[in-house]
Amino acid sequence: MKFKNLFAAGSACLFFAATLNAAEDDSFDAEQTYQATCFACHGTGAAHSPEVGDQIEWEIRMEKGMDTLVQNTIAGLNGIMPPRGLCASCSDEQLKAIVEFMLESSL
Ligand code: HEC
Repeated sequence: MKFKNLFAAGSACLFFAATLNAAEDDSFDAEQTYQATCFACHGTGAAHSPEVGDQIEWEIRMEKGMDTLVQNTIAGLNGIMPPRGLCASCSDEQLKAIVEFMLESSL
């Protein structure tokens, strides 16, 4: 009986951990986060930001390579692109996913 209870508690714990992981990976929606944080600038061209949908702007930026674009997103650029695009809770991977979304929507 005791052993059975332990087993039940153990699997409940595993299940909880699995759900937590899933929440972290699957609930992240690059488009939604883009709309919530990056759109204020990149959807409007505010502060001279490259607008999503402007193919030429993004073709030129893409020439720097994906890694550089992501690095500049993380660190910020020229004092006008804020570090992490103001998404303080975004991980590096999540920021990369948003940059990919922005490029896919523009090119
Ligand atoms: C306060 C306005 C603002 C917000 C918010 C913002 N950006 Fe930017 N972003 C800019 C501006 C301005 C530039 C152009 C900087 C330059 O070229 O000097 C830029 C440039 C970029 C670039 C191109 C970098 C390069 O190397 O050319 C990427 C990629 C980018 N932003 C991603 C994002 C992402 C992802 C978010 C949201 C998580 C975001 N930005 C939020 C203003 C903003």
